[in-house]
Amino acid sequence: MRHDHVITSKHLSRADVETVLDRAAEIAADPSAVADRHAGALLGLLFFEPSTRTKLSFETAMKRLGGDVVDMGSVESSSVTKGETLADTVRVIEGYTDALVLRHPKEGAATMASEFVDVPLLNAGDGAGQHPTQTLLDLYTIRENAGLDDLTIGIMGDLKYGRTVHSLAYALSNFDTRQHFISPESLQLPREVVYDLHQQQGGRTGIREHQRLEAVLGDLDVLYVTRIQRERFPDESEYRKVAGEYQIDRETLEAASDDLTVMHPLPRVDEIAPEVDDTEYAAYFEQAHNGVPVRMALLDLLLSEDGGGSDE
Ligand code: NCD
Repeated sequence: MRHDHVITSKHLSRADVETVLDRAAEIAADPSAVADRHAGALLGLLFFEPSTRTKLSFETAMKRLGGDVVDMGSVESSSVTKGETLADTVRVIEGYTDALVLRHPKEGAATMASEFVDVPLLNAGDGAGQHPTQTLLDLYTIRENAGLDDLTIGIMGDLKYGRTVHSLAYALSNFDTRQHFISPESLQLPREVVYDLHQQQGGRTGIREHQRLEAVLGDLDVLYVTRIQRERFPDESEYRKVAGEYQIDRETLEAASDDLTVMHPLPRVDEIAPEVDDTEYAAYFEQAHNGVPVRMALLDLLLSEDGGGSDE
């Protein structure tokens, strides 16, 4: 994978995914083995939108590999406020670093930026588009808790604007999964995503859409809950119509299988009641923690001469 950009999960094959997840499992089992592996390497962080987990876990991952980060900081404090284009910004920062992480509010921004740089560019979220590194940690968490084959997953919430959902749905289509999409009608998966998923699955009908969770809850191995993406609604009144419609609490989960795994990319607003946190179902904090070994594995594979793997 050396020098590849990671822009969309559509380009991640099953073999790519397995390579990253296997490497992440090795690193999680013995992080000290890679503590100096990328000493001297620098990762550039360009976040044009708020971020907590993604940014801090990339920073942690790079430092745990012995490297360091340079951070553009907030948009307000950068030359973006002077009118600098994204293309110029990435061209400049690539000269300082070995890889770049970009989050941007515009869908397609990462694809565009990647055309201007030679170092690996990792898309950390482009508007309502894609978030492929989140998908890798989601897949890692699913593999640990439920396995990736013969999986029945429910993906619930804002399927229209949720980039984590788009990326996850594409990547899951490489595995033997049944995907149930649960949302209000106005927040259904974009039709082009549904079309792509049908194409990708070669006509197998592994996809179903629902408006009520009760229709499928009892069949699910994993329930992936998402936040309504308020900041992407053109009209606040449209947000208010659907806000708070999909919430789960202990009572909701009484109809679930005992083995259900509940995930969420976080941040949550009110989709999952805090009372669920202490149940056996909750895997969302573990999921957030998995961001570090998974991003370590990905960076290691992208930055290594030998394509990663153990070099002992
Ligand atoms: C997600 C994102 O930014 O798309 N957050 C994350 O990276 N874990 C989900 C969200 O903001 O709802």
